[in-house]
Amino acid sequence: MHLIKTTAGLKQHISRLKTARRTIGFVPTMGALHDGHRSLIAAARRRCDVVVVSVFVNPTQFGPGEDYRRYPRDLRRDAALCHNAGASLLFAPTVKELYPNGTTSHVEVGPVGTCLEGAARPGHFNGVATVVLKLLQLVKPDRLFLGQKDYQQTVVIEQLIRAFHLDVAVTVCPTVRGPDGLALSSRNRYLNRRQRLAASLLYHALQAGLTRLRAGERSARRLRAAMRRVLQRDHSIRVDYVAVRDPKSLTALTRVRRRCLLAVAAVIGRTRLIDNALFTP
Ligand code: PAJ
Repeated sequence: MHLIKTTAGLKQHISRLKTARRTIGFVPTMGALHDGHRSLIAAARRRCDVVVVSVFVNPTQFGPGEDYRRYPRDLRRDAALCHNAGASLLFAPTVKELYPNGTTSHVEVGPVGTCLEGAARPGHFNGVATVVLKLLQLVKPDRLFLGQKDYQQTVVIEQLIRAFHLDVAVTVCPTVRGPDGLALSSRNRYLNRRQRLAASLLYHALQAGLTRLRAGERSARRLRAAMRRVLQRDHSIRVDYVAVRDPKSLTALTRVRRRCLLAVAAVIGRTRLIDNALFTP
């Protein structure tokens, strides 16, 4: 596996792959890799000739007071995981490499980037869209692999691809969970034992929503109340939102007619956690 840290080095390598007509699968990450990331690399391997992974803790998607500085960084460990998972190339640039002009030019995401996570984290999705656009320009992948774990992010990136006529297909991979249902996340390592126990209630809240939907419940208000009750079982959980949304536009539903997205966000201690589930009747 090649480890490349400069955009010049990456461009050279990608142009060789293009000349050899190899299809490229791309998995963008912020590192602190876990089995969720590993599943994306595995999916990319199945569908593409070569897999490029990026590890870059993107400063523009963190708000003031968020965890940019303390976000876990361990490139050696990440490189080993990428290598073992079968990635061909790991791109790990510095901030200067990826933002040569600073942050003067950026992508502005519309309403799908300002609700839910975007409401709690103003500017977050502008940062995500900006860095993903940069990475797509450099890696020129045939297919991009994203996790359903960050559902809103997939909507934002699919919109970005359409808006800027980018030639890349998207595969959204299922959320990988721990034995207790908790979605794997690089931020889970901030949780102590007690908090980790409480954190699995996000999963149970979504399951409670799905169970009611399967039993025929269609009122978004009652679904939200049922999910919230599960989260309130532990007083260390501060609920940020419990939402029933249209999966494409992310607009709020009052009644569920077809597919819907259940989304939850909560803060435990200083750690913000999100999770979601899709319902198809
Ligand atoms: P990061 O949080 O490192 O996630 C990288 C990719 O892994 C995302 O597509 C995310 O949805 C996916 N992922 C995370 N946890 C997962 C899980 N438990 N199961 C399946 N997939 C999971 O998302 C980002 O980084 C950044 O915003 C990025 C897109 C790299 C832009 O900076």
